[in-house]
Amino acid sequence: MEKKKVSKKIAAEKIETGLMEKIVSLAKRRGFVFPGSEIYGGLANSYEYGPAGVELKKNIQDEWWRVFVRERSDMVGLDSSIILHPKVWEASGHVAGLVDAMVECKACHTRTRADHLIENHYETKGEKISVEGKTEAELDAIINSEKIKCPACGKFDWTPVRKFNLLFETHVGIVPEAQSKVYLRGETAQGIFISFKNILDSTRVRLPFGVGQLGKSFRNEITKGNFIFRTLEFEQAEIEYFFDPETTDWKELYEKWKGDMWKFVTENLGVQADALRWREHGDEERSFYSKRTEDLEYKFPFGFKELWGLAYRTDYDLNQHMKFSGADLMYVDPTSGKKFVPHVIEPAVGINRLMAMVMLNAYTEDGDRVYLKLPPRLAPYKAAVFPLLSNKPALVDKAHEIYNDLQKRFVVAWDDRGNIGKRYYAQDEIGTPFCITVDFDTLGEGDAANKDTVTVRDRDTGTQERVAIKKLGEFLHGKIYR
Ligand code: GAP
Repeated sequence: MEKKKVSKKIAAEKIETGLMEKIVSLAKRRGFVFPGSEIYGGLANSYEYGPAGVELKKNIQDEWWRVFVRERSDMVGLDSSIILHPKVWEASGHVAGLVDAMVECKACHTRTRADHLIENHYETKGEKISVEGKTEAELDAIINSEKIKCPACGKFDWTPVRKFNLLFETHVGIVPEAQSKVYLRGETAQGIFISFKNILDSTRVRLPFGVGQLGKSFRNEITKGNFIFRTLEFEQAEIEYFFDPETTDWKELYEKWKGDMWKFVTENLGVQADALRWREHGDEERSFYSKRTEDLEYKFPFGFKELWGLAYRTDYDLNQHMKFSGADLMYVDPTSGKKFVPHVIEPAVGINRLMAMVMLNAYTEDGDRVYLKLPPRLAPYKAAVFPLLSNKPALVDKAHEIYNDLQKRFVVAWDDRGNIGKRYYAQDEIGTPFCITVDFDTLGEGDAANKDTVTVRDRDTGTQERVAIKKLGEFLHGKIYR
């Protein structure tokens, strides 16, 4: 009994060590994620999402939108601009505050975040430290006293620690002058605050209510991104949940959001609870206006890392925008007439990070078989349709008929290359939950009882069953959206 336990543990660790490399390789091989601008030699921390990847990413977005916006009566949606008035980012504090402390190696010009450099250095010594909140001078002192070498070239020759803003700058108009400077948004959240008044005026929302937004954000990340975990551009899914602090207990609301986030990751995205944990920000790490901030962390192969942040931001953002814009962003209670600035709780997540987690979590090795055990709802293709033989027109025509019909309801794949085993292998790696084969029985040329039926093979169990063609749509729907 004990022996079995040990070997199982070793097997699990083996998968863990090479897991990231396996996912990166599978992602490219099967059209999930390609390195960014590859034919031009690549662009660090940028990726292209291929045919399977775009479907998986979209399914995760759709699931988030369905659960947190469409199916909630206390939520509305928004799609604000990527380029906002530059004052938005002054008001939000991003121009002054979205900064990383960086050092550059004078020998090879590698730039790296000082906190990552120091923390990784201690990690290799088997110690865990956090340098959150330390000044540039304090970071400099640690790098120098520890004589931390450049991870790229091995030299110890750093510039002093310098603050570096992560916002991407660009210009509106044809003259790149100071007045025309704008930023690509560093988070979607600010678009929600600046539309707060318009949402109040154009809808019938009443506190407490939330606004959800999905869309691209941009940050000039220059450290190693760990695949799609940290990239220059990424899809954020953010919620600002507004409430009256005098009538809503923020602690209760906060705990409720924690429950909803946890449920989404474990139930909708199918992630095991033991790969997740909450980590509360200490006083040094937490923004000065936040009363509580916690990260839901996932155990990535490179350690437990932030997946989804939850912050009680008080009334800071609305107040800042009132101050900088001069607009009145107060809420008037329709019953009591009380006028005040609402407080917010903000659950903020990156879809790309969720996608990395979903792929890592789904990766399964069973003997020689490799498959992505994705929740069927998230799988890029819900089914794949094959004619048993590609050189028999009657089989191909029938399979095409089924494929065209299913395509009206589901995203389906077609494959007629190689033998059935190879086709199963490819679909397993993509995570397609069902493979449908049209054979001679289907045409009524074999077992008469199987006429007008097909073989449906289940990805996870490998079992096959005959299903009537006319019931295929209902069969798949029942299995996928149960
Ligand atoms: N409005 C709050 C905010 O933006 P954040 O912790 O900076 O907070 C929220 O970002 C989430 O966005 C993170 O938990 C992470 O999932 C995702 N995220 C942040 N930076 C990212 C990056 N460079 N690449 C991919 N995802 C990122």
